[in-house]
Amino acid sequence: MKIAVVGRGNLGGGLADFWEKAGHDVTRFGKDGGDVSDAEAVLVAVPGGAVADALARVQGLEGKTVIDATNLVGAEPPAGFESNAEFVKSKTNGPTAKSFNLNFARLYDRLGETKSTPSNPWAGDEEARATVDQLTHDAGYEPVYAGGLENAKTLEAGIKLFFAISQASGPFVYRMAPPDQL
Ligand SMILES: NC(=O)c1ccc[n+]([C@@H]2O[C@H](COP(=O)([O-])OP(=O)(O)OC[C@H]3O[C@@H](n4cnc5c(N)ncnc54)[C@H](OP(=O)(O)O)[C@@H]3O)[C@@H](O)[C@H]2O)c1
Repeated sequence: MKIAVVGRGNLGGGLADFWEKAGHDVTRFGKDGGDVSDAEAVLVAVPGGAVADALARVQGLEGKTVIDATNLVGAEPPAGFESNAEFVKSKTNGPTAKSFNLNFARLYDRLGETKSTPSNPWAGDEEARATVDQLTHDAGYEPVYAGGLENAKTLEAGIKLFFAISQASGPFVYRMAPPDQL
């Protein structure tokens, strides 16, 4: 798959490494933006408060399948939107998902140590499911569906709980599964 990663830091760069190892063709963009016309999937991994600025510097987004991984830390979604993911969709009008925002990039190099595959929750459009499922598996996680894009705000709010646990107990991976699948 041709993937454009907008934001090539800890999260975007880490996922780009996984996806390249899985055989995908990944192009990485930073603050200067660029043209994503060629991409079949776009990851947004910039600071949450910079999402509007970041997308304004990206060309070729119309109709793209986009995974928004941003978290809002000390920031709010752009005015008129309940989540960054819904803002992203307003700019692309394509299949959109919120995902990868509730996992710690600093543990990416330890995913192989887990006894069961860690979970990666996502919320978003049904048309984005195949892309999210594949890129989640290719990063070493199991996708867990959390409903439509209207639930992206719930995933974005989840970071407060995850930060609280991380500060109290250290960064963690987790498995969400019915009892018979644990
Ligand atoms: N790190 C994690 O464990 C983690 C986990 C879940 C979610 N997230 C979320 O993922 C996002 C990225 O986090 P990160 O830790 O990867 O950050 P990071 O290492 O600081 O990387 C940020 C990236 O965003 C780009 N950027 C910064 N300001 C921008 C702007 N105004 N416009 C366009 N691009 C801009 C930077 O561009 P340059 O390369 O040009 O400097 C860089 O590539 C954040 O929303 C964060 O909350 C992070």
